[in-house]
Formats: sequence, structure tokens, C-alpha cells
Amino acid sequence: MKLLITGGTGFVGRHLVPRLVERSHELVMLTRDPLSARKGLSYPIAFFPWPGYEADPPREALDGIDGVIHLAGEPLVASRWNAGVKQRILDSRVLGTRSLMRAIKSQSQPAPKFVISASAVGYYGSRGETVLTEESSPGTDFLAQVCRQWEGAVIGNLPEGSRPVVIRTGMVLGEGGGALARLRPIYRAGLGGPLGNGRQWMSWIHVSDLVSLILHALETPSLLGAVNAVAPNPVQNREFNRTLGRVLHRPAWLPVPAPVLRLTLGEMASVLLASQRVHPKKALGSGFQFRFPQLGDALADLLHPQ
Ligand SMILES: NC(=O)c1ccc[n+]([C@@H]2O[C@H](COP(=O)([O-])OP(=O)(O)OC[C@H]3O[C@@H](n4cnc5c(N)ncnc54)[C@H](OP(=O)(O)O)[C@@H]3O)[C@@H](O)[C@H]2O)c1
Repeated sequence: MKLLITGGTGFVGRHLVPRLVERSHELVMLTRDPLSARKGLSYPIAFFPWPGYEADPPREALDGIDGVIHLAGEPLVASRWNAGVKQRILDSRVLGTRSLMRAIKSQSQPAPKFVISASAVGYYGSRGETVLTEESSPGTDFLAQVCRQWEGAVIGNLPEGSRPVVIRTGMVLGEGGGALARLRPIYRAGLGGPLGNGRQWMSWIHVSDLVSLILHALETPSLLGAVNAVAPNPVQNREFNRTLGRVLHRPAWLPVPAPVLRLTLGEMASVLLASQRVHPKKALGSGFQFRFPQLGDALADLLHPQ
């Protein structure tokens, strides 16, 4: 299939692209910087410039595409949130998705068979012990509002006949980016520990399972709407902390109290303190099998590869 991909240069995209190429899909990538994207991804891909919501994607990029995988968005934890950063987090997802979808709707004939877009478990807000499935109601905090509008921009601008899938992704664990890249040096230095009271639930997924789930969504016409991309065994933060310490053979007892996190990270601390106990009901119901359902196995695979 000929697939249009955005955000293919990012952490998840760099794991996904080789698996798509391996399956003989033809890739067209929209990126803000085709020159460096071409250097970083040595695959037969057609690159087109797209500065995000500031302009429409070029018409030639949309010719004859069979499907769309949309991952682009301003990173959430690159810098302390201020009004400008929050606006970029929101606009890059909501205005960016709207601009992409409208261009596809008006210019891609026939309509692509599917549009798979990233979203996040942030959709649910912070919900304590409640087990959250795709039918659960959304939260009300900043990230929940971003996710709601982001998903709304996909569903509300969908070409007739296209199947929408929004992947509500948990914390992605993988090589070359994401949470592990930030946590590993802290834990290696023996400075790891529970965050806040450590009781908040963390919904995580091994990047290889996330990529497989995106491929599964692409190949399963009956799968549509929101799909939780999380392993079936979420853990509380204190358990995550213990497991990471054990896998790295490092002490991990240095707690970081919530007020300290809020003082140092500001509102961004909510990403670390939110409790999201998310269940991958639709993925499991559609026959998807996780290769890494348990956190210890996922971390061992990533931190001590054979
Ligand atoms: N990683 C996680 O733990 C996680 C968890 C939940 C949800 N997600 C979501 O899944 C998607 C992929 O995650 P990721 O970790 O791979 O993301 P990432 O590495 O932070 O970034 C993905 C790509 O988005 C593009 N981008 C960055 N800032 C942008 C902006 N201001 N405007 C438009 N495009 C911009 C970049 O592509 P170009 O430079 O090529 O344009 C970048 O490579 C994201 O939307 C993310 O929110 C990720």
C-alpha cells in the first residue's frame, strides 16, 4: 500500500518506518525538514515538506495514498510548560491534524482506506484506581482537552469511506527516546525513586508492541475508533520504580515528593503524577497479542538485549 506518514522521524516513527518498509509498503513522509529526515532514515521514502498547521501539505504528497499514519506533534516534555509551549502542544496536534485531514479530504481521490492517528492515554485525565477502557469518559485537565480536540480533528474531518483509528498511547518504552532515555541515567546513578506517593497507575507499552499494534490496526478493517495502546498489566509508580531499579541492579529508594516535582517542573509534573489505569480492551478483543505484557520482561528486553 502507498502510505502517507507524519512524525515518521520521531521516536515511534523511527521504530515503525523499518517495519512498514519490511512489509513492502510504499512510504510518503511529511516532515518539517526533509533534508535531515532523509539523512536519518535511509529507506526508499518520498519526503515532502510540511511545516505543520502553518500551511497545507503539498498536493503531490497526497496523490493516490491508500492510508495515513499521523504521529506528528510538539513533544510534551521537552521544555517547562508556559503559555507558548502549551499553545504549541495544542496547535501542532489540533490545527495540524485539521489541516492535514482537510487537505486529504479535498485532494485524495479516492479517499484513503484508513487514517490512523496518535492520541494518548492523557485523554482520560487522572482517574485514581478506576480501570479505564475505550468507553470511559474523558478527563478535564489540559492534556485531556488536547487529546479530545486532537481526536475530534480526525473524526470531524474524515473523508467519506475512510476508517479512523485513534491510538490512545501510554508511556512508550523503547530504545532511542521516550521515557527510558530520560530515566536510565537517573537510575544508573542510583538516584531513582518513587514519584509523589508512588500510588499513581502508569500505563506503559513496549515500542515493539506499539508498532505491531499500529500494523494490526492497518490490517484489521473491523478495528475503528479509539484503541488503547497500553500493555495489559499497568503498574503503580512505586512498582515501576522497583522493577526498573531491579532490572538495572541499582538502588531506587530516593523518593521525589509531589510538591518538589511541581516546583521544579511546574504544570508538566501532572504528566508524572497522573494516575491512569488503562486497559487495552479493544486491542485484546480484536485478537492482538502483546509480546511484552509484563513490565519486567519489557525492561529486561530493552536494557539487557540478548
Ligand atoms: N512517546 C510516548 O511515550 C508517547 C505517549 C503517548 C502519546 N504519544 C504520541 O505519539 C506520537 C508519536 O510520539 P513520539 O514519541 O514518536 O513523538 P516525537 O518523537 O516527540 O515527535 C514526533 C514528530 O512530530 C514532529 N513534530 C515535532 N514538533 C512538531 C511541531 N511543533 N509541529 C509539527 N510537527 C512536530 C516531528 O517530525 P518532523 O521533525 O519530521 O516534522 C517529530 O519527529 C506523538 O504525537 C505523541 O504525542 C507518544
